[in-house]
Formats: sequence, C-alpha cells, structure tokens
Amino acid sequence: MHYEGSHKFGVHQNLLWLLLNDPIVLARITPGVKELIPIADGVFEAVFHIKMGPINSTFKGKMEVREKVAPRRYKLIVNVDAKIGMVAAEALIGLRREGQGTVISFSGNGRLSGKLARMGQRVLIGVARMMAKRFFKGLEEEIPEGGIHKGGEIMELPIKVTVNGLVRENRVEPRLTLVKYLRETLGLTGTHVGCDTSGCGACTVLVDGEAIKSCNLLAVQADGREITTIEGLATDSLHPLQDSFHQAHGLQCGFCTPGMILASVALLKRNPDPTDAEIRQGLEGNFCRCTGYHNIVKAVQNAARKME
Ligand code: FES
Ligand code: FES
Repeated sequence: MHYEGSHKFGVHQNLLWLLLNDPIVLARITPGVKELIPIADGVFEAVFHIKMGPINSTFKGKMEVREKVAPRRYKLIVNVDAKIGMVAAEALIGLRREGQGTVISFSGNGRLSGKLARMGQRVLIGVARMMAKRFFKGLEEEIPEGGIHKGGEIMELPIKVTVNGLVRENRVEPRLTLVKYLRETLGLTGTHVGCDTSGCGACTVLVDGEAIKSCNLLAVQADGREITTIEGLATDSLHPLQDSFHQAHGLQCGFCTPGMILASVALLKRNPDPTDAEIRQGLEGNFCRCTGYHNIVKAVQNAARKME
C-alpha cells in the first residue's frame, strides 16, 4: 500500500522539526498511538490502540527514526507483529520552507497482513488519509503561541530545567542544542563538544538520570527535566567515579572525561557490577583519543567496588 500527502503550516521549519522529534508530542498527535517509550537512540516502543470497524485492540510495536537530516527530513519505520496482524511500513518525512511557512510531506509504503489486511485496500487508504488529516490537525494544535513573530520566524521559547539541583528558566531559540545551552547560556563548560554529531560522547550529560548526548538534544526538548553535568556530580568530596578515574589514571588530556564519567554513572546505575566486557560495551559511544581505554575500564571497576 502506498500513501503520500502534504500540509502547509504557517510557521518556521525549525519549530515543526522540533515538534516532530518530540516523542511526547508525537504520541499525542499520532492517531492510534497511546505512548512512545524511547528504548535506544531514535528507537521507540510504541503502544497502539486501534478502534476501527471490527478491530478494537491495544498492542505494541516498534518505531524507528532513521537517516535524520535536521531540520529537513527523516525516515520513519514502523513494525508491528500483533494478534490483529503484521504491519511493516516506511515513510519519508520531509520539511521545506515555502514563503513564510513550511510544507511537511510524507511518502511511504506499507505491508499489512492478518485482520488489518482483510479490511481491503480502499478502506485502508481512506483510513490512512483520515489519519494523516488528524495528525496534521494535531500538529497545528501543538504550535505554541508566543514563540513566533509576525513573519513566521522563530524567536524564542521558554524553558524551565533543573540543572545540578538549581532551577533555571530561560527563553531559547528552538534550534539551540542542549550542549550549547549548558555551555553558553549557563556557563557550564565542563560539558565538551567533540564532534557535534552524536558520535564521540564528549557532550554526555544525565537527563533524568539517563546518559544523553547533549549535542543531539535541543534545549527545548529538555524542558521540565533534571540535568546533571560534571559540575554537579561531586558533593562534599569527589564522586567515586571521579576519584577512581583520578586514582587509576583513567584520563590524560581529560577532554573525553566528563562525558566518560557521566556515561559510567548511568552504566553503574543500570548494572552495579559490570564485567570488563560490559563496561566496554556500556561506554562504546564514548571515544577517548589518549588512554587506550584500559585504565578507564579499571577506573569503572574500582568505582563499582567502592559504590557497593
Ligand atoms: Fe556530542 Fe560528540 S559532541 S557526541
Ligand atoms: Fe584525552 Fe580521553 S583523556 S580524549
């Protein structure tokens, strides 16, 4: 089954990109989706509820966002294997400026089996059209007032975040990444930028206790969340991981170290007694150009023992 469509919005592409990349917004506006739970970078467990003719069912599936080119396009892959049938669908979502506004278009193909497929091609195409219409209407409703000036250009949106225990409120451009917000707005320069493309892990911080590459998250997406940077890790004394990195010579130039330590904090929270291999796997998203990793692994093991 092939489907395509487009809709023009009167606002800037960056704002729409931001909304389209927010799992909470997507769950709210996508017909049939009740919840999107992030399980890996760009991968979500989706909880669906479909009420359509003889079908009234809740089931889970997987949604993946791939080949992201901000703020212009991404590929959405949906896979469902449930009692009502199987769905394997892909769609290219594109955003382009047009005058003062932005056109969002989608084009894709889907394969269905089971009860869903038995509904017939014509019915399904009608349903897809109706869902697209409701999706775009939902997206219109998500566009905040006050973040846009007359010409449709984005100015700023308000955010409120807790950083290292302090509540911070600022107005930021929707395109501002979290790492830039931390470094340039709040002056917390312990979070480093190595690649700016989510490859090296130097910018890792904790967002609600989870290790996140802050070059890959917009500041507005962190709204309402709790963030810990390297500056907030030590209390009266060094955190056991900071101390162990120091003792075991887990750093040389120190560029990767804040990200490495925060990724290790999240790792030990998930797995308090990791093996050598589990540490290497847990830190695979963090690159170090100096140490050869051996002493980093030793430091994490020592910290795990201290934190028992
Ligand atoms: Fe964020 Fe490299 S700067 S991963
Ligand atoms: Fe230099 Fe890791 S200590 S990059």
